[in-house]
Amino acid sequence: MHHVISAKSFTQQALYDLLPKIDQMQTRLQEGAQDRLKGKIMAALFFEPSTRTRLSFETAMLRLGGQVISTENAREFSSAIKGETLEDTIRVVSGYADVIVIRHHEIGAAARAASVSQVPILSAGDGAGEHPSQALLDLYTIYREIGRVNDLTVTLIGDLMYGRTVHSLVYLLSNFTNIRLICTAPEATQLPTDISDYAKARGVTIEWEKNLEIAAKQADVLYQTRVQKERFTSQNEYEEVKNAYLIDTKLMAIVPQKSIIMHPLPRLNEIAKDVDQDPRAAYFRQSHYGVPVRMALLEDALQR
Ligand code: ASP
Ligand code: CP
Repeated sequence: MHHVISAKSFTQQALYDLLPKIDQMQTRLQEGAQDRLKGKIMAALFFEPSTRTRLSFETAMLRLGGQVISTENAREFSSAIKGETLEDTIRVVSGYADVIVIRHHEIGAAARAASVSQVPILSAGDGAGEHPSQALLDLYTIYREIGRVNDLTVTLIGDLMYGRTVHSLVYLLSNFTNIRLICTAPEATQLPTDISDYAKARGVTIEWEKNLEIAAKQADVLYQTRVQKERFTSQNEYEEVKNAYLIDTKLMAIVPQKSIIMHPLPRLNEIAKDVDQDPRAAYFRQSHYGVPVRMALLEDALQR
């Protein structure tokens, strides 16, 4: 079965096959109504809040002619609140739908779901673990906007410790050649060593640079992130790091003209609003690529 649980499971070849497929989905989106997944049902089980991931998965399914059942805030509005285990929920829902998209607050939840599901599980984020479909849309954004996925310097900024999108993106980028990652983060939210070791073992160069100006000057991609307040056990620790790095017009003055600014969103104060006008601000375009990316993932999962 074609589960999408971890970005580690994508080989370089699989990614080279997927990128043009996403281009095709963009074209199909422009062509209008599709019925390629007619008669199929996607269940969206969201135990954590979401705007982009849930709505773009739902849009993707509807654009392909499929249908959607969903439970938003499943922590409260599903029978989880009565004490039902995740495994039992998945056993039941996988008898209703042809594919399940799940976001959960616990690391490993999507893998647990996959272990008991009769249908493909697509992870929409598991706690501070991973967010593989986001990383695919991030990779697609780089491919579309920069025009290549090799020979890149990517500066990762902010919460690299709990930011699950960063984890999955590092795994995906580890498939390509001449990748240099600059980690610009406070000590308390640095990239976990198991993830940097994974990348290094695959030939990625990792550097640590606390000064954002120095890191920004060298980057093809500045990947800014929100400090993940919900993962902190101490409010004080969160307060200490929450505004560590800001991308503003002053910083943009030294960012190379061909570089792009990415952010998985939602943004709080990490990027000043007046940066939005700059053509290098790619984050809203990035969020829109979520639809064709998830169309490709749904087709892959359902047409096997
Ligand atoms: N939306 C992304 C996630 O769910 C990033 C974030 O929430 O900051 O991981
Ligand atoms: N990027 C992202 O996952 O956004 P949501 O949390 O709004 O789904």
